[in-house]
Amino acid sequence: MLSSSDELRTALHEHLARWGLKRFIFDRDYFAWQRRQLSSADLNHLNRQVELKRSGNCREEVAFYDLTAQPTILSVIHSQRYDYYEAVGLPVASRLGDARRVLDFGCGTGILTTFYARRFPDKEFIAVDRSPASIAAARKKSKELGLANVRFDCLDVEHESLRGSFALILSTHALVQAERDPGIPSESWQTFTRAHHTERQTDFEQRTGIGVRLDRLGAVLDLSGRMVICEKVRQLARRVPFQRALAERGFQLMEPPGPIRYRLIEEAVDDGPLYVVQKGRGSSVLWDESPEIDEGHVFDRNAGVAAPTDSDRPLYENHGPSAQTAWERLKDRAVTQEMTRQQPDGRQVHVELGTSGGVRYLYCANTFDQRQLVIVEPVRAAILEDYYREILGGMT
Ligand SMILES: C[S@@+](CC[C@H](N)C(=O)[O-])C[C@H]1O[C@@H](n2cnc3c(N)ncnc32)[C@H](O)[C@@H]1O
Repeated sequence: MLSSSDELRTALHEHLARWGLKRFIFDRDYFAWQRRQLSSADLNHLNRQVELKRSGNCREEVAFYDLTAQPTILSVIHSQRYDYYEAVGLPVASRLGDARRVLDFGCGTGILTTFYARRFPDKEFIAVDRSPASIAAARKKSKELGLANVRFDCLDVEHESLRGSFALILSTHALVQAERDPGIPSESWQTFTRAHHTERQTDFEQRTGIGVRLDRLGAVLDLSGRMVICEKVRQLARRVPFQRALAERGFQLMEPPGPIRYRLIEEAVDDGPLYVVQKGRGSSVLWDESPEIDEGHVFDRNAGVAAPTDSDRPLYENHGPSAQTAWERLKDRAVTQEMTRQQPDGRQVHVELGTSGGVRYLYCANTFDQRQLVIVEPVRAAILEDYYREILGGMT
């Protein structure tokens, strides 16, 4: 017997097929299919528009979404995101609860909105997007699907207020405009913490457009309404100001934010987290500003790690946040060379070579939360010295 989550997944696959989406496992199969579906003029146009969108300019972004909503391109470009629809669409669908009126902000072509509307015929969905071609594609498909409980409006919330009131607002990949924005740096290379700087926070909210979007959404959310949100903010430097933007507007967490992981065909993507928030209610779930726990461990010379004799493989290597704890706990740590630099983009980088209880180490840390600790036997110290010089050479 199918469980309800299997049934939901099967329904999503059927729905994606109605949109002409295909699932690919290998990039080469996808790109071969893409070349059969699109002319080289289409592909060149698309690649140019992808580049222009990266500039973060709003007009270019709308032009990109208008282009990808064209009937010839839509299913090809969105098939790349097949797993995304599953990774985001299923948890969102299972959180719609008993809300009667639902707003889907930044619905795009409505691939997910029409799925929710099909699954929940007793709910009314209003979906908005500022890309006219996306809204046209969404309206066409919802007519084909015979949906009477969904309306698509073309509107840019940066310039216009939303109308109505909603028990639930959904927003997936639509709140944080500048996908390349690095976020805000930590206080120094030695810490992951970020003090509250009003100016930096305001700057982030303006650069990414999240401030105005959240204000407009908050204005149409019922007093006890909920928001289900998923944005590309896994990196701490983006996650912290994103969470603070929500907290400052009175939103509280209703459940611990869950990571979202999927594949863009062969590329693994760490996305999300998925947030469920509500205004003004006491909540026992606290905002967490610490880095994600990784699998790193503390280096222990006596833990039976065999010294590699036949290769340059290090005794220990850690490229995650836990490298900081491992570095702090190195026994009899003595620095032999170090350098701390302030980069033009505001980032502070520290790199250090040292010794600890008969081994050599290299430690590298920056204010955008990157950490790296590499430990080798003294006979291999030259590798670390080369690496140290390479890092210094990369600093401006
Ligand atoms: C990456 S797509 C996400 C589509 C859909 N929510 C999903 O998860 O697949 C982002 C959408 O947000 C829309 N968007 C961004 N800023 C907007 C704004 N200020 N007003 C209305 N729509 C906006 C874009 O036009 C685009 O269609």
